[in-house]
Amino acid sequence: MSPTPPSGIIIDTDPGVDDAIAIIMALAAGLQVDMSKTGQGPKVLGLTTVGGNVPLASGTRNALAVLNAIGRPDIPVYRGSSRPLTGRFSYSFAFHGRTGLPGRLPRPKAATTNQSATEFLAARLRASPEEITLVALGPLTNLARLMQRHPGVLELAGSLFIMGGAVNSPGNVTPHAEFNFYSDPVAADMVMSTTIPITLVDLGASRQVALSRKQVAALKGGNRMGELVIRLLQDWFRLDHGRKQFQFYDPLALAAAIDPQVVGGRHLTLRVETEDQERLGVSQVAGLGGNVLVAERVDSARFFSMIKRLFGWEEFDPENPL
Ligand code: RIB
Ligand code: CA
Repeated sequence: MSPTPPSGIIIDTDPGVDDAIAIIMALAAGLQVDMSKTGQGPKVLGLTTVGGNVPLASGTRNALAVLNAIGRPDIPVYRGSSRPLTGRFSYSFAFHGRTGLPGRLPRPKAATTNQSATEFLAARLRASPEEITLVALGPLTNLARLMQRHPGVLELAGSLFIMGGAVNSPGNVTPHAEFNFYSDPVAADMVMSTTIPITLVDLGASRQVALSRKQVAALKGGNRMGELVIRLLQDWFRLDHGRKQFQFYDPLALAAAIDPQVVGGRHLTLRVETEDQERLGVSQVAGLGGNVLVAERVDSARFFSMIKRLFGWEEFDPENPL
């Protein structure tokens, strides 16, 4: 998988606590490009929002609020789909909190642009074919709508990193289905059928990178972004005293886009169940080989050393189980 190309990344997202951390990671990495000009980090070209964890309006407000909180209101945000291709979103208020982000961030000053997510994606992908990395962290509705309205344009992306699915691992919203794929199975099946290189960070992979309540309670300091991430994590644990660990679902997908060596796996051909109501959203292996690299091995040490560096958490030792 080629490293993130210089022209940057676009993040499709339904913030959501883990989405917010992934967005902050991308901006922290991109900042390193500005500071050191080493070209190590990606340049974030914009965020496109989609309903999923919370209604579109809440997720969009959360995206703007996170950008505002880290001093990056310059990053444009484009509103996408408020509903899946079929049915309705089921939302995940219990996990992310009533607003989608626990705690309270200052009201953002910036607003979304007038251009829709689909039109922004189409324009940028046409302008920089093969150069943009897409990172999809929510239901895949926006990408599927792009495929419907602008056939062939999604395939202009250089690569696509997706958090979603549960390939050979239990689901988190039904026994076999993962939330993003379950939220819009038709969109997920359409996107799995594209020809661009996909790296799929599913539940089996993202369950390999988690921090316990004690480890999060021990986090301290860091740069401005690291301090906000600590607040988000600690507020998330406060939502439910029974919570034992935070799994870095979306941050792992983002980390793989920045440094593809964070994950390894097999290339498979995947389909997503769209008919059987008992198995809606289930990710199914349709063949060996293909365009989807399903992350099976995770270098958790590499992942945590990345977030330690990006957030400036000098004393953080993920190996210390506390
Ligand atoms: O199943 C985990 C995924 O669903 C993550 O993207 C999380 O943010 C939720 O959207
Ligand atoms: Ca998400």
